[in-house]
Amino acid sequence: MAANNEIILEPLFIMQKIHKGFNPVSGDWKYVQINPTAQVLGETNGTGSEKVEYCIGCHLAREQNDHLFYLPEKNRVIQ
Ligand code: HEC
Repeated sequence: MAANNEIILEPLFIMQKIHKGFNPVSGDWKYVQINPTAQVLGETNGTGSEKVEYCIGCHLAREQNDHLFYLPEKNRVIQ
């Protein structure tokens, strides 16, 4: 919420690990951006793939950490 109590709608960012070989540059992550209008702007290797390339570009800085920034190791696997 902004200082003037105005609600600001933000896009939803999703990362989903797909199978090995899905996309070697993205570390086999599918990046998805869903806009506040509920429209999928783009998804890696899918419709609008080029629109989420900027996700891959920035997350590449954390290539040594499986492209993740702060997600704790224990939260990366489905229990
Ligand atoms: C300019 C760099 C940058 C870009 C571009 C970027 N991210 Fe991130 N992303 C980060 C940083 C830094 C964090 C960790 C800090 C945070 O959560 O605010 C993060 C965290 C995340 C996380 C939580 C997992 C983690 O790594 O901690 C997801 C999921 C995510 N980003 C998805 C996306 C998606 C999807 C896109 C594109 C639509 C995207 N990001 C674009 C820098 C970026």
